[in-house]
Amino acid sequence: KLNITIVGGGSTYTAAMLKTICDYKDKLPIRKLALYDIDEKRQERVGKFAEILIKERYPEIETFIYTTDKKEAFEDVDFALMQIRSGGLKMREKDEKIPLKHQAVGQETCGAGGFAYGIRTIPDFIELVNDIRKYSPNAWIINYSNPAAIVAEATKRVFPDDKRLINICDMPIAMMEAFSTVLGTTRQKLSPRYFGLNHFGWFTALYDETGKDRLPEIYSFLKEKEILPSESEMLDQSWQDTFKQLAVMVRDIDGYIPNTYMQYYLYPTKIVEKSNPNYTRANEVMDGREKRVFSMLDEIIEKGTIEGSPIQNGVHGDYIIELVTSIINNENKIFLIITENKGAIENISSDAMVEIPCLVNANGVEPLRVGPIPTFYKGLIEAQLAYEKLTVDAYFNNSYNDALQALVLNRTIVDTPKAKAILNDLIEANEGHWPTL
Ligand code: G6P
Ligand code: MN
Repeated sequence: KLNITIVGGGSTYTAAMLKTICDYKDKLPIRKLALYDIDEKRQERVGKFAEILIKERYPEIETFIYTTDKKEAFEDVDFALMQIRSGGLKMREKDEKIPLKHQAVGQETCGAGGFAYGIRTIPDFIELVNDIRKYSPNAWIINYSNPAAIVAEATKRVFPDDKRLINICDMPIAMMEAFSTVLGTTRQKLSPRYFGLNHFGWFTALYDETGKDRLPEIYSFLKEKEILPSESEMLDQSWQDTFKQLAVMVRDIDGYIPNTYMQYYLYPTKIVEKSNPNYTRANEVMDGREKRVFSMLDEIIEKGTIEGSPIQNGVHGDYIIELVTSIINNENKIFLIITENKGAIENISSDAMVEIPCLVNANGVEPLRVGPIPTFYKGLIEAQLAYEKLTVDAYFNNSYNDALQALVLNRTIVDTPKAKAILNDLIEANEGHWPTL
């Protein structure tokens, strides 16, 4: 039986993840489940909800705790599921608004915002890995924490031989969820072929159970339509906008189907024009999801039962639990993982942290071969990779110049004076979070 700890227990994503854990109880025998967070108050609301959920849906769990104590949370753990947000949503708001002030893309993981978030996250994340390793040297550490590309590059340098530290992202999976509604199937029946970096990649094929590639159908769909079928569960405004932009990308440039995050790199001017510099995604999340999820949790706590509550599973929770299950049951399923290239993509550097399909089993992650990629993608990836490496260099070398070079290389910025102005503002805004550059 397993001991599992969710790090970032106070996240709005935790409730749905716990619901998935309960749904998977036959494949996922748990002895102890723990939530860990540095924000005691936030986590307490999730924790009280979880007590009710577990009592009703997974009473076989012997121990459930929520704690801010690392020893309690990390001792004797088999899996640590990481979903931290360094600086919280208040800092996300700054990551998005500061670049926009300078007419550059304001996004939490792409461009200057992701850069700022990355430098904040590196030390917090490394500290957590060290703490987990101190109490549980063999734990699997599965990471969602963003910006995952920067976290993956930084942790590869500090923990180079750690085969049990696995970085993942749910965006391609969320896209597949949407694609599956177009194809009239389910995501679990589709097997992706994909290459790139985190939040910077392309689908090359999507095989169904018979081995048929269904991506051409998605391609035709996107060429003709831009909104998802009405049966899709992903009909909120933000997803609809994202899919409209995906359709634009597919129509403009012939080639593979891009991750929706490519819009920030391929259409930076349009993105800036569409953005409201005073009300960004962080504001939407704070006013929307945060309030909605926590009031739902409070209602459940007050009623003392989850019966009749609208709590649903989500891709974020489903994907990580499917991955855990594939490890413990040696299922050899294919997952998209952020892992060291080591020749998988033949014509980019072997130490790049790439996002590619991998077999996942009891021994961990085994990358599938991608082969050589065409010049357009190789060129884009190499510049972005250099940006990622320089961002991590900036942190470890405490270097202003590395930071500036990183931002100049980023397609969302390009101009040196703009990069400098943004960097200077970010340094000021991140005082107390960043090392001195
Ligand atoms: C996707 C990405 C995550 C990101 C999230 C942001 O799931 O893969 O890396 O954190 O979107 O969503 P939000 O609703 O907070 O803007
Ligand atoms: Mn992601």
